Amino acid sequence: TRKKVIFSGIQPTGIPHLGNYLGALQRWVQQQNEADEDTKLIYSLVDLHAITLWQNPAQLRQWRKESLAILLAIGLDPKRSTIFFQSHVPAHSELMWILSCTASVGYLSRMTQWKSKMSVEDNAKPFDTPLQLGLFSYPVLQAADILVHRATHVPVGEDQSQHLEFTRNCAATFNHNYGQVLVEPETVLSPAKRIMSLLEPQKKMSKSALNPKSRILIIDSSETIKKKVNAALTDSIDSITFDPDGRPGLANLLQILYHLENSSTGSVEDLASDMVDISKRALKERVAHAIEQHLLPIRERYQEVLVADGGQFLDDVAREGADKAGKSADATMTIVRDAVGL
Ligand code: ADP
Ligand code: NA
Repeated sequence: TRKKVIFSGIQPTGIPHLGNYLGALQRWVQQQNEADEDTKLIYSLVDLHAITLWQNPAQLRQWRKESLAILLAIGLDPKRSTIFFQSHVPAHSELMWILSCTASVGYLSRMTQWKSKMSVEDNAKPFDTPLQLGLFSYPVLQAADILVHRATHVPVGEDQSQHLEFTRNCAATFNHNYGQVLVEPETVLSPAKRIMSLLEPQKKMSKSALNPKSRILIIDSSETIKKKVNAALTDSIDSITFDPDGRPGLANLLQILYHLENSSTGSVEDLASDMVDISKRALKERVAHAIEQHLLPIRERYQEVLVADGGQFLDDVAREGADKAGKSADATMTIVRDAVGL
């Protein structure tokens, strides 16, 4: 049987929010802590993806550093997990080019994320080019990120399912042309696969939504958490019920609570029926409290990690990560180049 290789990534485009955490990051740590010695764990800060939308360079530099600190603060251990910046490992871009020589334009043009990112709301300061090639071919780079490490399992939120399907398609097309070289990975969805915006609960919580009150950042202060949860949009119905279609705002708060509290027993419906008679105000207090309790140790570790050794610690982690990820990627590239005739 093939060795298990877990790969995932996050864009360093700001401090991660509760959706990133419950949908992805928390699982990365769980998988690290449950993995046997043979399992390879590779987690990337995908900074080349970040620049598909305009980023202020100084801000991006800062966010890259902070995002690395966050990955350590949530409990990823650089001795166990390979943690690195995508731009430090050029093989990702090289494989992207090779894959783009067999990838389907028709398939890419059906990607829903491409369509939604073309709307200006996400694009705080758009480039002058109206249709950027990088935004369009983004999923090919994502496929390369995964395939270059021969990942078998990719833990992501639901918004990435379509891209993972495309990744498998890229691998299959490449293999069809050049032989069994690339590994088709499995998508691993977290139970909290889609946490919604606090203000527009029909949309997912996202780093790029314009209103910062729509998301809780994983280093928000207790005060800020309380304010944001209090301001979360619900409805005017009195009782507490779990009804994602009819009462999406309330359902989202219940989901958050359920995934933060002990979700291994019972269901979110059970949780709702236990609370049927409490007020929404009381529910929000309980949600805010659960979030605070959960995030406090992360916030504290984050502050420590950021300044450890006068910042040197983070640089060391990034360099060692790039080194390990580079070796993992180069091993694949040797076979890929050979298969293609390069
Ligand atoms: P964002 O979409 O907020 O910019 P990324 O694209 O960097 O975040 O995604 C990082 C990870 O977080 C991905 O696995 C993605 O599926 C997951 N994720 C993002 N938003 C949510 C959400 N609202 N609920 C659950 N998972 C999410
Ligand atoms: Na995303």
